[in-house]
Amino acid sequence: MSLRLGDSAPNFTADSTAGKINFHEYLGDSWGILFSHPADYTPVCTTELGAAAKLKDEFDKRNVKMLALSVDGLESHKSWINDINETQHTTVNFPIIADEDRKVSGLYDMIHPNSNENFTVRSVFIIGNDKKIKLIITYPASTGRNFDELLRVIDSLQLTANYSVATPANWKHGEDVVIAPAIKNEDIPAKFPKGHKEIKPYLRTTPQPNL
Ligand code: BEZ
Repeated sequence: MSLRLGDSAPNFTADSTAGKINFHEYLGDSWGILFSHPADYTPVCTTELGAAAKLKDEFDKRNVKMLALSVDGLESHKSWINDINETQHTTVNFPIIADEDRKVSGLYDMIHPNSNENFTVRSVFIIGNDKKIKLIITYPASTGRNFDELLRVIDSLQLTANYSVATPANWKHGEDVVIAPAIKNEDIPAKFPKGHKEIKPYLRTTPQPNL
C-alpha cells in the first residue's frame, strides 16, 4: 500500500555513500528530507544534487537531515559525486543511498512502472521529528526540483507544528500567516500578541509568529 500524509515513515537500513544507514537512527530527533533521483550520470540529477548540496546550511538551520537515493550502486555514486562537485562547484555533503535491490524505493513507492520500470521517479518525502510523513511530492524525471520551494514548505510545516497557524497561497518567509480555524477569537490576543486582522470570520491573519 502506498504511503500517505500522516503515516509513520518506514524505517530501513541501506548502504549509502556515508556507510550503512539506519534511517530512523540517522534522523534522530531531526526532521528529514528523503528524495530519489532516476539515475547517476544524468544531467538533471547532476544539477539537482548540486543545488541541494549548496543549500545544506539552510536545511541544517531548520534541523532537517538530507538523504538522497537512486537505484545505482555505491561505486557509481562515489565517482559521480566527483562530477557533481566539479560541474556544480560544490561538495556533496549528504549521503546518497545505493538502492540496487530497490528495497527502499519499493518501501516508499518511488518506482512508477508506467513512467519507467527501471528507475525511481523524483519523489520527495519530508518527515517530521515525530517520524511522520508531512509532505509527499512526485516530479517526473524530466523536471528538476526547486529546492528553494522545499525549504519554503519546510518553513510552513514547522510553523504549523510550533504555532496554530497555516500559510496562505504563495506565502514567503516573513509574510503574514493564517490563524488556524480551530482557534477561538477570544484566544487570539494571548496566542498571537503581535496582533491580527479579521478579513472574514474564517480568514484571520497574523504576523509570522517566530520572527
Ligand atoms: C536527468 O537527470 O537528466 C534525467 C534522468 C532520467 C530521465 C531524464 C532526465
